Amino acid sequence: MAEMQIRVYGDPVLRKVAEPVTEFGPKLEQLTVDMLQSMKGGDGIGLAAPQVGLSIRFLVIGLPVEEDGIEGIRLLTMANPMIVEESEEIATCEEGCLSLPDINIMVDRPEWVTVDYQDLQGNNLTLKADGMLAVVVQHEMDHLDGVLITDYLPALKRTMMRSKLRRISEQNPTSTQE
Ligand code: NI
Repeated sequence: MAEMQIRVYGDPVLRKVAEPVTEFGPKLEQLTVDMLQSMKGGDGIGLAAPQVGLSIRFLVIGLPVEEDGIEGIRLLTMANPMIVEESEEIATCEEGCLSLPDINIMVDRPEWVTVDYQDLQGNNLTLKADGMLAVVVQHEMDHLDGVLITDYLPALKRTMMRSKLRRISEQNPTSTQE
């Protein structure tokens, strides 16, 4: 089991449009284990493959849930996710990102989405997500298209954040500035 290095702002892999997953089974299972490990290390609830340097359309989610007073984690892995329906209602949530340490941004997104995706074996599945799950799914799917939460900032706020972003980028060995 290997914890993979989390790529941070400034790393070009975070800006690529990721390629479809074509290989399922053991390799993807191992990647899931490694990504979950990396995500836990960073205290995240979701992670997309580009964040560990792999430009493929794959993401993992580990959402804390409570049912009948019992706390657990809802684990979800999605290959090639695609939004097929989304609500007109918009919900605003403060989001963070393991690739943008110490930055939180208010982001507007559809309140619920229906997503077609494939599981680790390549089976086709559909998920209707709302609440926090909808936020995480859409956030991680953005990563597959090279979109980061800073892209949602109005221009003025983005300018104000520039020096903070530059600091993150400079600390990153694989970064090429942005
Ligand atoms: Ni993120």
